[in-house]
Amino acid sequence: MINLVIGSQWGDEGKGKLVDLLGRDADFAVRFHGGNNAGHTVVVGDKKYPFHLLPSSILRSQVVGIIANGVIIDPKVLITEIENVEKDGYSLKNKLIISTRCHLIMPYHKALDEAYENARGKNKLGTTKRGIGPTYADKVSYNGIRVYELLNWELFVEKFKFQAKIKNQILKLFKVKPINVKKSLEEYKKYRGKLLPYIADSYQLLKKAANAKKNILLEGAHGVMLDNDFSPYPYATGSNVVTGAVNTGSGLPDSKIDNIWSVVKAYLSRVGGGPLPTELFDKTADKIREAGHEYGTTTGRPRRIGWLDLEAVKFTTEVTGSNKIAITKIDILSGLKEIKVCVGYKLKGKMIPYSSCGYKELAELQPVYKSFPGWKEDITGVRKFERLPKNCQSYVKYIEKFLGIPVKIVSVGAEREENIYR
Ligand code: GDP
Ligand code: IMO
Ligand code: MG
Repeated sequence: MINLVIGSQWGDEGKGKLVDLLGRDADFAVRFHGGNNAGHTVVVGDKKYPFHLLPSSILRSQVVGIIANGVIIDPKVLITEIENVEKDGYSLKNKLIISTRCHLIMPYHKALDEAYENARGKNKLGTTKRGIGPTYADKVSYNGIRVYELLNWELFVEKFKFQAKIKNQILKLFKVKPINVKKSLEEYKKYRGKLLPYIADSYQLLKKAANAKKNILLEGAHGVMLDNDFSPYPYATGSNVVTGAVNTGSGLPDSKIDNIWSVVKAYLSRVGGGPLPTELFDKTADKIREAGHEYGTTTGRPRRIGWLDLEAVKFTTEVTGSNKIAITKIDILSGLKEIKVCVGYKLKGKMIPYSSCGYKELAELQPVYKSFPGWKEDITGVRKFERLPKNCQSYVKYIEKFLGIPVKIVSVGAEREENIYR
């Protein structure tokens, strides 16, 4: 069985929770794109784990975690994460594989990310400043340095010196302090020593696992509305988020995937800039932000809040070929008198699909809303769909009908067990 989990909105839909849940039955858990711009939260009892690079189901004892070739790695962040889970008694010995083909995030990538953002001024994109865009840019322009070079230290040094020399010239143009080559090389040599035991050919492992019909769980990051092609670019991230990213990012053919789960948060949130048609600026937004703890897992920034945008989600489920939906954080809507969902976009008096819009259209259009009566009850303790307040049931059924895809899981709390299965 191969399960893929994809965020259907602008990220932070609750993918980490679903991945941990599906991880109960998984043999292998795979990250296949993105980097530590991702922040996926798993809550176990009173402990919260914000995963940035490790697969979110790594805490499950039988799971082997794979960081496949499409992921870009900041070694320092990864080592800290490994040490954090090991400190809590979860040993990663023989439990983690890092692909030789992963590209490395370098100090100059982070410096460039920040320098570009500062130079953009009022047009800044609101990146996480983790070096994501510059690292993927180097990857596609043959200037990247991979985990492969960590295995071949002389090659690493040669490549690093060449790249750092050029990048420092660019940083000079931005009037930014250059990176210290000698110090960076010493640091990366230390990281190398710590990561070597995990480095391997992840493709062979995954191919064998798929042929042996093992249970493989593919963990998407971000959300399709941030996809490098299908976002309102340039308000995007550096990787593709859609289903095809599994093939390029791990080597597994998409045709082998059985379940493509779209994670749909019952409202929406966004960190960073760019248009957000259903954004709320009123007390309801504040209420949802506080109740839902909508502050970035990676950067701590307050998240922008909006009503569920079904026009956008319909597009993302279509483009990813999703066949299962998990709705999350519906408990956060408890206590609202009225709940709205966007069922289409109107621009200059005419309906327009999401796919025809760029950032300019998305900023100008009017969402067409359907309104629902809310419910008052706290629903975190509910485990059967029929026990949910009638208005909450109607909300879920409407989403299901609109998307034409079955809602199989309704998450009603951050904890592992707070779920309704349908
Ligand atoms: P991800 O990036 O998609 O994994 O999502 P994040 O972890 O960045 O943000 C989701 C937040 O909501 C985390 O703090 C989760 O613990 C929490 N969460 C997930 N599902 C639910 C839910 O159904 N209800 C509530 N109240 N919190 C949830
Ligand atoms: P998870 O996996 C929310 C957003 C950033 C910014 C844009 C570009 O936790 O859902 P980048 O640093 O990637 O160059 O920033 O993309 N972004 C996310 N927003 N959740 C994420 O990941 C995100 N990953 C990137 O906020 O707007
Ligand atoms: Mg997140």
